[in-house]
Amino acid sequence: MALAIMCSGGDAPGMNPAIKKFVDYVYKKGEEPFLIYDGLEGLIDNKIKLAVHTDVAGILHRGGTIIRSSRSKRFFEYEYRLQAYNNLKANNITGLVVLGGDGSFRAMERFSSEFDLNFVGIPSTIDNDINGTDYCLGVDTALNVIRDALDKIRDTASSFNRAFLVEVMGRNCGYLAIVSAMISGAEVCVIPEIEPEYQKLGKRLRGEVEEGRNYVLAIVAEGTKQTTQIHKWLQETIGLETRVSILGHIQRGGNPTVFDRLMAFDFTITAVDHLMLHNNSNKVVAYQKSEFKLIEIDEVVSKKYQLPQRYLDALSLLD
Ligand code: F6P
Repeated sequence: MALAIMCSGGDAPGMNPAIKKFVDYVYKKGEEPFLIYDGLEGLIDNKIKLAVHTDVAGILHRGGTIIRSSRSKRFFEYEYRLQAYNNLKANNITGLVVLGGDGSFRAMERFSSEFDLNFVGIPSTIDNDINGTDYCLGVDTALNVIRDALDKIRDTASSFNRAFLVEVMGRNCGYLAIVSAMISGAEVCVIPEIEPEYQKLGKRLRGEVEEGRNYVLAIVAEGTKQTTQIHKWLQETIGLETRVSILGHIQRGGNPTVFDRLMAFDFTITAVDHLMLHNNSNKVVAYQKSEFKLIEIDEVVSKKYQLPQRYLDALSLLD
């Protein structure tokens, strides 16, 4: 049996531990592990190679992905999907593990509706925006990167009478912003899922400033596309000198945390065990209520991820 692993879309810390576990575990099971380089682009171009242990030696602690990833435009075209499928067949690949996010799973759903695939997806994105799973690989590491940045920004913010506005990633999802706001004690948090009530928020902030608050930490999710507007509002309406930090791609880097390494191992073992027992699977490993289970890809891509209600409740305290 030949099983392959690939990454697709944005990289996430934890992909390397997953790749290492995949190679070690598949060999342990007496089967052949293949690596697909450069994501869907590499699958189209047949960048597929039987792994040896030295390919994955010394990678557990590294962020990113040693087999690289891509956002493939060609994969939207049928002729390239056919080419990709033929490459899997030519290499006798009987099962495929895809580490990716929402967009990649949509691509895989399309791919599997056209060809007889046997694949399992592992939710891997710092955005934590995949329906059906409570957790995606890379989120804990990204949150720790953000926490570190926010702790430092608070140091300098508290030394001045200033507001600091920090934009975090998350695409159209406010998960990273809301959790970062909770764990840093931010005074303001704006996410795409909820329209901010500026009047109410302004009244609270002005009141707090009158009572002696001398700095404000505000977190905005990139998906709101309101960073410039909120900057202006803090300066002109609230009257606080404001600095902006856009954390950007540093949030995707860094050594995977202990949690992400352990999650990578469990996600991968669950995926491989499933592929070894099935021939025609189109599933995703979901982490639900502290357990790993397999769910249909349709379930994952047909609905939008909803933020946990308890987090939304926490956000309402910042109104
Ligand atoms: O999906 C992960 C992510 O980092 C998002 O948070 C962000 O919007 C996007 O990818 C950035 O994509 P790129 O690296 O292609 O600019």
